[in-house]
Amino acid sequence: MKILVIHGPNLSLLGEREKDIYGSITLEEVNSNLLAKAASLNIELEVFQSNSEADIIDKIIAEKNNIAGILINPAAYTHTSVAIRDCIAGVNLPAVEVHISNIHAREDFRRTSLIAPVCIGQISGFGMNSYLLGLEALVAYLERG
Ligand code: DQA
Repeated sequence: MKILVIHGPNLSLLGEREKDIYGSITLEEVNSNLLAKAASLNIELEVFQSNSEADIIDKIIAEKNNIAGILINPAAYTHTSVAIRDCIAGVNLPAVEVHISNIHAREDFRRTSLIAPVCIGQISGFGMNSYLLGLEALVAYLERG
């Protein structure tokens, strides 16, 4: 079973970006933790980061027949992207939305996710563990429904 992991805009800056909010973990560290978790769950991961809405959509469409589900941190596109929302709805694959910070405890504009309604669930506020918990939840959903 293969899962597509998508990191949205500015997540390549993890480790140097707003450390008081996102901590000092880097994207490479997030990815190596995810790969270790995937190995323990006996699944395959493909990891993709882009700052471009179009590239994220193109990647989901390119992989849709090769993957069982999507783990996505849409970053700022969470709050703005009807196009990513429509893509996730359109490919009809289970998706889990994750956030490092608790988007519900920050500015008002972050409290709305356009993506969450087309996902099976959202995990927000647990730092890097949001990704690991999200992966576990997605795999459990795919294996047990
Ligand atoms: C984020 C939260 C978003 O509001 C923000 O735009 C990000 C990161 C998070 O992981 O906490 O870039 O998705």
